[in-house]
Amino acid sequence: MNYPYIEEFRHSLVEWFHQEKRDLPWRRTSDPYKIWVSEVMLQQTRVDTVIPYYNRFLDKYPTLQSLAYAPQEELLKMWEGLGYYSRARNLQAGVKEVVEKYDAIVPDTRHDISKLKGIGPYTAGAILSIAYNKPEHAVDGNVMRVLSRVLHITEDIAVPKTKKVFEEAVDALIDEDYPGDFNQALMDLGAMICTPTSPKCLLCPVRDYCTAFQEGDADQLPIKSKKTKTKKVKFDVFVAIDKEGKYLVEKRKEEGLLANMWQFPMIELNENANSIESFQHNYNVIILEKADDKDLNFKHIFSHLTWELNCIFVQVEQQSTLPNDALFLAMDSIQALPMPVPMLKIMNVLN
Ligand code: ADE
Repeated sequence: MNYPYIEEFRHSLVEWFHQEKRDLPWRRTSDPYKIWVSEVMLQQTRVDTVIPYYNRFLDKYPTLQSLAYAPQEELLKMWEGLGYYSRARNLQAGVKEVVEKYDAIVPDTRHDISKLKGIGPYTAGAILSIAYNKPEHAVDGNVMRVLSRVLHITEDIAVPKTKKVFEEAVDALIDEDYPGDFNQALMDLGAMICTPTSPKCLLCPVRDYCTAFQEGDADQLPIKSKKTKTKKVKFDVFVAIDKEGKYLVEKRKEEGLLANMWQFPMIELNENANSIESFQHNYNVIILEKADDKDLNFKHIFSHLTWELNCIFVQVEQQSTLPNDALFLAMDSIQALPMPVPMLKIMNVLN
């Protein structure tokens, strides 16, 4: 690497972290299980959002064993609102493997830890460096942004193989005495100072060693090509109440988006379908009354897909048996189930 400030950069960064680091709950432990939970929650989710989830989760599941054998529905309820629910299922599978194959000790080598479900190169490096003080890289989008500026790396960070360039850079820069602090310092710098827009270079502890600051183009980096537009899917959502005041809900499939979570019945709209007819037919109900005055339409954006939801509020009568995984439940029972965020929004207008 053609960068003359390795020592100065490393030292200034770690010094700054020791003085300015954010006081975060997972920084008060060196338990690899707890750090694992924090790192999984922090993928794609902001620190402020994660803190209350992290605290509740570890109150409920303080040990690897307590999480390994928790019922999946309870686990999903604990994760409700955080999104990317496969993270929770993979975390549980990985934790179960540690309990059963590694005698409940989280492995401390990249080779072994990377075999666990849900642990990719980033999570492996974060746990190894933070919990075990190993000089291992942990490169996420924030770290790529910081280092693209410091080292003036102009490769496209939307291209997966670019990540390797940054991993090698961290291998060269990392502080062998404080590897966990070094990695977390990059994360904090990215969150607080070296932000995506309007980086606060005048407050930066390493600006004297930052190539982009010297060149005056920090705000042009990193280079990131635009991703293609996400797909849109339209649904009618049937909020159907029976004469006892119970609502029709169903469990989603065990695989795919929002697997095993619960919802009000959704009928995808395509040109030829009549959603009201499909709803009555698929669920063996007849609509007694439709509330034409209620109007709830909104979008929910997932990483790769947008749902456009139109809610239809109806009173129904059950005609024969319901399909598997569908049932009428009172609102307080529905509130105990894991529901995706768009369904929670609908429930909010019902209460
Ligand atoms: N983002 C991901 N991991 C983090 C950590 N350990 N501290 C702060 N922000 C993070």
